[in-house]
Amino acid sequence: MGLLKFKEIFIFSLFISLGQLKPLDAPKYNKNGQVVFLGDSITDWWKNDGKVVWDQYYEPLGAVNTGISGWTTQNIIDGINNGMIDNLNAYLAVLKIGTNDLAWAGVSEADLITNTGRILEMITAKNPGVRIILLGILPRGEADIHERIRRVNQATRNFADNNRIFFLDMEEQFSTGLGQVRQELFWDDRLHLSTQGYVVWAQTMDSLFTSVLNAPFAAKVVWMGDSLSSQWLSTGVSIWNGAYAPIQTQNFAVSGHTSDDTIQLIEGQNVLEGLNPKAVVLLVGGNDLQRGAQAPQVIANIERILQHFRNRFSHARILLLGLLPAGGVPESVIEQGKIINDALAAKNNGDDLRYLDMRNQFADQNEEIFKDLYQPDGIHLTLQGYEVWNNTMFPNLTPLLQFN
Ligand SMILES: *[C@@H]1O[C@H](CO)[C@@H](O)[C@H](O)[C@H]1NC(C)=O
Repeated sequence: MGLLKFKEIFIFSLFISLGQLKPLDAPKYNKNGQVVFLGDSITDWWKNDGKVVWDQYYEPLGAVNTGISGWTTQNIIDGINNGMIDNLNAYLAVLKIGTNDLAWAGVSEADLITNTGRILEMITAKNPGVRIILLGILPRGEADIHERIRRVNQATRNFADNNRIFFLDMEEQFSTGLGQVRQELFWDDRLHLSTQGYVVWAQTMDSLFTSVLNAPFAAKVVWMGDSLSSQWLSTGVSIWNGAYAPIQTQNFAVSGHTSDDTIQLIEGQNVLEGLNPKAVVLLVGGNDLQRGAQAPQVIANIERILQHFRNRFSHARILLLGLLPAGGVPESVIEQGKIINDALAAKNNGDDLRYLDMRNQFADQNEEIFKDLYQPDGIHLTLQGYEVWNNTMFPNLTPLLQFN
């Protein structure tokens, strides 16, 4: 009796603790760390004088502020070496550093420039595919240091390639001339910013920040599946080049692959290592069914693949495609396919995972495939098929690439 009770309690508490694990189907889109700010006190104090602005513009993006009062370039180098930005997988970094190096840390202009370049490399190494906005050191209310700031900014702007690294000098917005600052934007020390200063920083940076964050090249997509997806690069390549190449899509699909093969690719061969996509597209399972697999096994495999995506890509969103209709396949295969699609549809959470079913675009209500869209084998698609696929999918994919 007592033992049974214990067992019940055990099972009950197991249930509770499983219930507390993040369920596969309902994690919230994880924004934390998509954007990272690095710098000294002027960045740090987004938390104080700049807080109202930060809360409005950057907090909703999951921006992380690593700025620390008193820091020099060497402090940032040490901080990064000590794991300060590990595992963020940020898409955008904003770096503004150097005023302490020049003011009191005794760092030469040449060393400051070198260190800045080193920090840019380190940020890039820690965050695959990251874009960086390097801000010029802000002017200060004293001619000598202002002059040195200008010289350094003149040099560090050359780090910008306007592809991965962008430079923005806000001198004009903050200064009226050498050694002159716009006092309302600063504290009395003519170094630190007032709330109005943070407003001007955000406004001045806004158009670059927004365009870099949402630029197509920053919205990399990873795509996995079987021949239906791999033939985007042959039969469908003209559409691919117009629609998916521009948003930097990497197609890992392999002809003949089952869900087991996809697992082998990502877990065994680790092909996704070092990537940091904004979205993942998955269509797999058709070959499993052709080879006699049953729906529950396919569903379990797909769940495992989804979990892998979520573990690996902390900010990416998933577009999960339902199996496409096929011609001339046994009734039992069609039935299993429906079971799979229903299970996949139930994973749609409208948040980090969207399910897209294109059945109605490829077959009528009696499961008769639209012949124009298929090759004679009734499985693979024609160019027209890829056109329909794109027209259906593209509008569902692009919202997943936006930062919001
Ligand atoms: C892909 O589909 C979208 C949305 O339907 C469409 O606007 C776009 O022109 C298509 N791209 C190509 C290359 O056909």
